[in-house]
Amino acid sequence: MLEVILKSIWLMLPAYLPNPVAVLTGGGTPIDFGKRFFDGKRILGDGKTFRGLFFGTLSGILIGLFENFVAPFAKMPSFGSGAESFLILLSLSLGAMLGDITKSFFKRRLGFERGSMLPLADQLDFVAGALLLCYFTSTSWFSSNFTKEVIITVLIISPILHLTVNFIGYKMGRKPVPW
Ligand code: CTP
Ligand code: MG
Repeated sequence: MLEVILKSIWLMLPAYLPNPVAVLTGGGTPIDFGKRFFDGKRILGDGKTFRGLFFGTLSGILIGLFENFVAPFAKMPSFGSGAESFLILLSLSLGAMLGDITKSFFKRRLGFERGSMLPLADQLDFVAGALLLCYFTSTSWFSSNFTKEVIITVLIISPILHLTVNFIGYKMGRKPVPW
C-alpha cells in the first residue's frame, strides 16, 4: 500500500507543484485582465494571474524532468522520453493550472468571492484538470501508469496533501486563508 501511495505522489508531483509555486510567484496582471462576465462579476478574479500560471506550469515541467532523471535509481515510473515526455509533463502541470482556473470561473458564477472556500472543488480541481488533460493528450502512457488503483489513491491523498500544504502556506504568511 505504501508503494502505491509513493508511486501516486511521484506521478502527481508535476501536478502538485504548480499550485504552491503559483502562490509564491503569483501577482501582477490577472488572466481575465480585470474584466467582468455578463453577470457583472469578475470572469476569474485577481487570484488567477499570468505570473502564477507561467511559473506554476514551468515548475511542474521542471520537477518532472528531474524525476525522469532519477527514475531509474528511485525505481519509479518515468514520464516517457523526448517529445512525448514534454507533452505528458505539460499536460499534468498545465492541466492542474487549467483545472484551478476552470474552478475559479464557476466559483465566480456561483457568487463565491476570490479566496472563499468551496469544499472538494478547491481540493480536487487541479487533480481533475491534470488527469483529464493527460488522458486526452497521452492516452497510452496514462492508461499504463494511472491504473485504477493509482487514481483512487490520488483522489484520497490529494485533498489531504493540498490542505496540509495550504496550511503551511497560511502559517508562512503566504496565504491569507488556510484553504
Ligand atoms: N495564483 C496566481 N495565479 C494562478 C493561481 C494562483 O497568482 N493562476 C496565486 C494568487 O495569489 C492566489 C493564490 O495563488 O490568490 C492562491 O491560489 P488559489 O487558492 O487557487 O486562488 P484564490 O485566491 O483562492 O482564488 P479562487 O477563489 O478563485 O480559488
Ligand atoms: Mg483558494
